[in-house]
Amino acid sequence: MNNPNTSLVSQMLSNRKKEIVYGKYEREVALAKQFFKYLGVYGLLASGLRSLEKRIIKPPLFRSELVKLPMANFLINWFGGNIGQETDANSGFLGFGLLHYTLINLLKPDRILCIGSQKGYIPAVCAMACRDNGKGIVDFVDAGKNEHESNSWGGIGFWKKTSPKKHFSLADIEMYINTYVMDSEQFAEASKKTYGYIYIDGDHSFKGVSRDYSMFWPKLEKGGIMCFHDITLKGKANSGEYGVWKLWKQLETKHNHKISIILRQNGIGILQKK
Ligand SMILES: C[S@@+](CC[C@H](N)C(=O)[O-])C[C@H]1O[C@@H](n2cnc3c(N)ncnc32)[C@H](O)[C@@H]1O
Repeated sequence: MNNPNTSLVSQMLSNRKKEIVYGKYEREVALAKQFFKYLGVYGLLASGLRSLEKRIIKPPLFRSELVKLPMANFLINWFGGNIGQETDANSGFLGFGLLHYTLINLLKPDRILCIGSQKGYIPAVCAMACRDNGKGIVDFVDAGKNEHESNSWGGIGFWKKTSPKKHFSLADIEMYINTYVMDSEQFAEASKKTYGYIYIDGDHSFKGVSRDYSMFWPKLEKGGIMCFHDITLKGKANSGEYGVWKLWKQLETKHNHKISIILRQNGIGILQKK
């Protein structure tokens, strides 16, 4: 009869061996990428390399580069993960990004919806979670408003000036995210999709966030999670009176499965659909 401890150890050793072999190929693929980038033909070969990468270096064990300092630091800087997301670029701490990443890892949704982001930090982290899950896609909606428009709520006009595909491709996640530069209301009317995870960080007025809640709650699947950013901000902003806190208070009587995570000024509200 097999000794369970021996078979466990041999399984671990064989996994380790696989990791070493995969690790070797990973370096070679990375070198090939650098070489083709240098030659300027990377675009042409990128998809071929990606499928090769998937076939030969698909990790045998769960593993994410997300929490390693260089990647975390890059994500925070490139996608604008600011203090409102409780990040720290120096130590590579992803703040609320880590929370969304973990919830998506646990739920493994097929579709994720993100409403509002200055430069894409939370949508990017969600897309990385899809990549690590081996499934799922993010629909990211932002009106692309700039600071001179009404109801911009911190928007800097970024999505009207940049190519979202190119922007996300720097983290190799462009195939896990579709960007819609439009108002959330327009998107809700046009889309028939349902979602397993929804993140709301667009219009922060009471009227605006309540509209997002009413439009997207019916599109949330059973067991799915809806998150609101900035549930504690109160008072006047350039775009008007903050109102997420007010909606969050109202939802208290409506939902049993409701969690508030409050740190400093911002805070995240989490609802699960039962
Ligand atoms: C407060 S910023 C998001 C800042 C965010 N905390 C972050 O980490 O990037 C709000 C974003 O929502 C967008 N926005 C505002 N109203 C919107 C609406 N009705 N539909 C879609 N996007 C909207 C703005 O263009 C802006 O980029």
